[in-house]
Amino acid sequence: MNRALIFSFSLWQLLILLPLLHQTCCRNPVASAAGGKWDMLVPNTGIPAMHMQLLRYDKVAILDQTTFGPSSNLSLPDGKCVNGTAGKDCTAHSVEYDVLKNTVRPLTVSTDVWCSSGSVMPDGTFYHTGGDGGGGSVVRVLKPCNSGGLCDWKEISNGLLAPRWYASNHVLPDKRQIIIGGRGQFNYEFYPKTSKTKKLFDLPFLSQTNDPGAENNLYPLVVQNVDGNLFIFANNKAILFNYNTGAVIKTYPAIPDGNPRSYPSTGSGLLLPLKNLQGNIQAEVLVCGGAPKGAYESAINGVLMGALKTCGRISINDPNPKWVMETMPLARVMGDMKLLPDGNVLLINGAGSGTAGWELGKDPVLSPVLYKPDAPLGARFEVQTPAASRPRMYHSTAILLRDGRVLVGGSSSHGGYVYTGVDYPTDLSLEAFSPSYLDPQFDPIRPQITSPKSQSGIQYKKSFPIQFTVKGTVNPNLVKVTLVSPSFTTHSMSMNHRLLVLSVTKGVKSLGKSKYEITVAAPATTNLALPGYYMLFVVHQDIPSAGIWVRLPQ
Ligand SMILES: *[C@@H]1O[C@H](CO)[C@@H](O)[C@H](O)[C@H]1NC(C)=O
Ligand SMILES: *[C@@H]1O[C@H](CO)[C@@H](O)[C@H](O)[C@H]1NC(C)=O
Repeated sequence: MNRALIFSFSLWQLLILLPLLHQTCCRNPVASAAGGKWDMLVPNTGIPAMHMQLLRYDKVAILDQTTFGPSSNLSLPDGKCVNGTAGKDCTAHSVEYDVLKNTVRPLTVSTDVWCSSGSVMPDGTFYHTGGDGGGGSVVRVLKPCNSGGLCDWKEISNGLLAPRWYASNHVLPDKRQIIIGGRGQFNYEFYPKTSKTKKLFDLPFLSQTNDPGAENNLYPLVVQNVDGNLFIFANNKAILFNYNTGAVIKTYPAIPDGNPRSYPSTGSGLLLPLKNLQGNIQAEVLVCGGAPKGAYESAINGVLMGALKTCGRISINDPNPKWVMETMPLARVMGDMKLLPDGNVLLINGAGSGTAGWELGKDPVLSPVLYKPDAPLGARFEVQTPAASRPRMYHSTAILLRDGRVLVGGSSSHGGYVYTGVDYPTDLSLEAFSPSYLDPQFDPIRPQITSPKSQSGIQYKKSFPIQFTVKGTVNPNLVKVTLVSPSFTTHSMSMNHRLLVLSVTKGVKSLGKSKYEITVAAPATTNLALPGYYMLFVVHQDIPSAGIWVRLPQ
């Protein structure tokens, strides 16, 4: 199909839809439904994907927990066994998923990684921290390996000063990461440490947001603001925090309805795409879903309340910041939010009732929903079809892959691996959700990056050319370049997730048949984009290329 045809087709669709949209817009926030596709990738990886991190060689490190002992559905290689949480254990509790080969390889962890956290350092090494019991103070290091490599975890006991269960991590500009909170830990620490930072630092905000009996402030949302401070959201409150001085720079108003959005009343949240990088940058945070106040107490007494149907959006550097509330088409707790290469946000996974916790969720939300940050208020949500066939509730995850698909895995709602005789069996599979931008009908206008090569270095502030091909006609005014950081994802939180729309310094020029070049400026500072590996995409008429890996130097 050529581009003219696509255009007339979508115009035709629009003309038909317009009166419908008009009718539905004002009674119901559900906009139109749009397509997408689900594919089963690996039916049995051996473990449920409780934690996932995409690494620079298109391999995904996946971790579950070791609490259940030697009972996963995958053996360690070559008869290997470890002294695990429950004694001798010859099964794997972590795997590496090779995206390009669609294969899974067991990895070795012996300490309990249950409800842990992590970040990828600027050199691409994955540092994973904390967990349950004896795993609480352990730091685990995975140096990613290229095709054929057999890299595995190295565990550092007492790497942390405090045991951290349900903490959040963020990379910092100086080759460190900060690890914030965790159950009973109203403090933070750094890793690695210097002699000055070899201690715990108090963070009263975490005790202030702790609901007695329910907590509702675990796995806080931590986002680096464009001024270098950290925006920290927990429960229904947020602060802007200077981790160097310990000063709270700003206290934001609470979310107006006062309902909790953090674990176990688990909502999801992220920094919306940063644009206009050479001008006045708006930094906006979006928090969606969660559970009403009292939902956790109610759930442990056997009554699962309906999830929250609202999102709050706040411009964090406004002189007078205010939450603007929006209504989702579907209520959701334990959902995931992902930044997509085109700058939209995907809401996926989760439940319609209950909270996080064993046996505390039901009514899986099977339909992903797209959120379009730039559309007018009231017209931002779009339900995606088809719906998923598998519930992905407690301990499920979703991450963006370099080819634009969203990898989905996990769901383990029971106190053990339970595969039969229950409503929501433990799910060992990996699936991909392909947003509608991957539909082959858009191939004629889809860019393909030819230069630079993947794994290239780019320099802060410096402009660099990107060459790409497009089979059909290019509209030079509708090309943008986005940079997306791969997140560490667990329990609905996407740590270090960030998308930047790069400033164009030289517009699209033609290099001959089907070949084009656009020149963009790399982010100016580490406040805008931390050092490390990013996926870079060329987006034409909202259709993204496959990404390439680029690296901002440390
Ligand atoms: C567990 O592994 C076995 C052998 O690979 C497989 O047949 C079975 O389907 C797996 N169980 C689940 C729930 O995937
Ligand atoms: C296994 O680890 C435990 C502590 O976690 C220790 O007490 C025990 O001696 C270890 N067993 C072996 C065989 O190393």
